Amino acid sequence: MRIDVLTIFPGILEGFLNGSIVRIAQEKRLLEVVLHDFRQFALDKHRTVDDKPFGGGPGMVLKPEPIFACLEALIAPDQPAPRMLLMSPCGSTLTQKRVRALSKDERIVILCGRYEGYDERIRLAWPFEEVSIGDYVLSGGEVPAMVLVDSIARLLPGVLGHDLSALQDSFEGPLLDHPHYTRPADFRGMQVPDVLLGGDHAKVASWRHSQALERTRLLRPDLLRGGPNEAPNAGQV
Ligand SMILES: C[S@@+](CC[C@H](N)C(=O)[O-])C[C@H]1O[C@@H](n2cnc3c(N)ncnc32)[C@H](O)[C@@H]1O
Repeated sequence: MRIDVLTIFPGILEGFLNGSIVRIAQEKRLLEVVLHDFRQFALDKHRTVDDKPFGGGPGMVLKPEPIFACLEALIAPDQPAPRMLLMSPCGSTLTQKRVRALSKDERIVILCGRYEGYDERIRLAWPFEEVSIGDYVLSGGEVPAMVLVDSIARLLPGVLGHDLSALQDSFEGPLLDHPHYTRPADFRGMQVPDVLLGGDHAKVASWRHSQALERTRLLRPDLLRGGPNEAPNAGQV
């Protein structure tokens, strides 16, 4: 998979791309992430990417010219069209189901906004799908872009040590993840449940399922009612 990220602050993503799962995905050549500073496509000598809004009001708006020029340099008309994602609080909220669908794409282009957002003609002219990471407002699309890249990278086959481990995560089914324990079996008087020490795999599976159900009832009862985070594998537990 190749992901192109358009941003005027590529430095925000550079450290992230060199760490953890995303670095492993790139080293294994399962993922290529290319950063594009669309300020380089600005037309004037000051490399201006924003301007005052027509009609007045506070804040600045991202100009269309640098973003159009960057996209036109990136997307060849004779190549298969990439999926195009616009980071925006107005978009539909990202879910694990959506991330899993995106992880099947060959090429994704992500546009990161800043200031008050984008000149509307960017939305009108390009087939962007708008993606929000939640009902709150950040100062730029770079953190949402990192959320997207990370959540996609860990689903690419071969990236995680055990591909099955992602399938057992919260939001892959209707239940949240079950509790986990590691050594020591006794930590400051807090004991690991006996069932996990007994070696009976069927009993362990049954305990984990009941714990996951209880945790979901307590923390996210909406998931049990097929709530907003409708899980991709719902019904398979
Ligand atoms: C300050 S925000 C603009 C907010 C815009 N005026 C609004 O009210 O919808 C600047 C940029 O940050 C990014 N952004 C902020 N919050 C976001 C969110 N919840 N999800 C995705 N992107 C977000 C978008 O790229 C947005 O264009």
